[in-house]
Amino acid sequence: MSKQFISNTVEDTIRFGRRLGSILKSGDLIALCGELGSGKTVLTKGIARGLGVKHAERVNSPSFLILKEYRGRLPLYHFDIYRLNDAFEFMTVDYARYFYGNGVSVIEWADKIEKLLPDEFLKIDLSVKGENERRMRVLPYGHRYKRIAERLC
Ligand SMILES: Nc1ncnc2c1ncn2[C@@H]1O[C@H](COP(=O)(O)OP(=O)(O)OP(=O)(O)O)[C@@H](O)[C@H]1O
Ligand SMILES: [Mg+2]
Repeated sequence: MSKQFISNTVEDTIRFGRRLGSILKSGDLIALCGELGSGKTVLTKGIARGLGVKHAERVNSPSFLILKEYRGRLPLYHFDIYRLNDAFEFMTVDYARYFYGNGVSVIEWADKIEKLLPDEFLKIDLSVKGENERRMRVLPYGHRYKRIAERLC
């Protein structure tokens, strides 16, 4: 099953992320995949809003860090692994502590570490359709995420 959401503005993407963030629970994992500029970070800002992170607009992808943690209703672990060479490099991060921890993990470029992802997670494939149009395909793995996808789209 795959559902999709079409966004026509940055605000649409933020709202979509916010709705997703507001229904997430402890231990949830969101895998974001998609080309440069497809809106992964914008979507993460929305998720942060939905998780009650203060100053969610400041969520960005820092140049030297793989992971940034934010405090909200639940902790948000924002991974951006664009600069990683391979999954082996990612294994030097104590990632299991986050993936199976109390917060919500959101991973930009998650396809780079596909083999290290848990069995169940929500994948969102983003693509650029026009200057301001973005398509988000929502691909749930596992029952819990199927229910989330049904509520979302
Ligand atoms: N509907 C839209 N939704 C999201 N972003 C949009 C939209 N329309 C235009 N944009 C623009 O597209 C860009 C998305 O950037 P963003 O940093 O979120 O992409 P990204 O997928 O995280 O890229 P990167 O791979 O470099 O991290 C921004 O410049 C934003 O203003
Ligand atoms: Mg980004």
